[in-house]
Amino acid sequence: MTKIKLQEWMDGAICSLENSETPFLEVQVICASVLGKTREWILSHNELELGKDQVEQLNVLVTRLKNGEPLAYLTGQRSFYGLDFKVSPDVLIPRPETELLVEEAAAWLEENPHRRKAVDVGTGSGIIAITLADLCADLEMTAIDVSEKALAVAQENARQHQLEERIRWEQGDLLSQQSGPFDLILANLPYIPTSTLNQLDVIKFEPRLALDGGANGLIFIEQLLSQAVTRLLPGGAIFLEIESTLGEETLKLCQTIFPEAKTHLFYDFAQLARVIRIEI
Ligand SMILES: C[S@@+](CC[C@H](N)C(=O)[O-])C[C@H]1O[C@@H](n2cnc3c(N)ncnc32)[C@H](O)[C@@H]1O
Repeated sequence: MTKIKLQEWMDGAICSLENSETPFLEVQVICASVLGKTREWILSHNELELGKDQVEQLNVLVTRLKNGEPLAYLTGQRSFYGLDFKVSPDVLIPRPETELLVEEAAAWLEENPHRRKAVDVGTGSGIIAITLADLCADLEMTAIDVSEKALAVAQENARQHQLEERIRWEQGDLLSQQSGPFDLILANLPYIPTSTLNQLDVIKFEPRLALDGGANGLIFIEQLLSQAVTRLLPGGAIFLEIESTLGEETLKLCQTIFPEAKTHLFYDFAQLARVIRIEI
């Protein structure tokens, strides 16, 4: 049987991904993942002859891509804030929008050097807790998720970055088992209204537990804010990632539960309402 060269296989795969907006990138990434090389290496070795097993593995991945499965689940990896994270179908794939929450929380920690007791509620793959622990060497971070499987992924990510011991890991429902008190509460909770979510492709692959915010999209945020009233220290802050279409509604909810607090809405790179900061 004649052997197929890397470039030939890539050309065929790119043509077959007719519904993708970024077929070149996706094909390079899956080749890099199967061959255990970088994308740069792939581009400079297009004459490589592929083995039978490699072609089989690549064909399986390209079929999964054609079926709409996210690239990050195929490669098991996604970068966030300059760090690499393992991902599995048990966790939400890290989104670039969440970098805004990390960036604003890191700026707040820099301005408040004596406020170091932080909690990341709904940690998922651990991106918020791990990135902030990496940025802030004296941060005392607790990371909570209701999903045991998500916590296992987050702990593995922390281990990979030598940060596992710096973070206290807790399985639980929001802050119900935590007395705190905390200086900083961070949360990217499920916030898509159920009826909206049911029409989105994202629900075919990513966990409902990570996305479904109930009928109005706000059930978890409302519960967390109510719990935070007795768990946030004076002078502390809450950072929430929010659904962009619910910016004003979420802000109102924050102002109802924390009437004395200063609130601020941050917009992401697409000018969408994305993060709320509450300072008490
Ligand atoms: C939108 S994902 C965010 C994951 C991660 N923090 C990120 O930014 O990519 C929400 C996470 O909240 C978790 N979660 C859902 N309900 C929860 C609850 N009642 N208590 C704690 N965590 C919960 C889910 O398992 C999921 O990992």
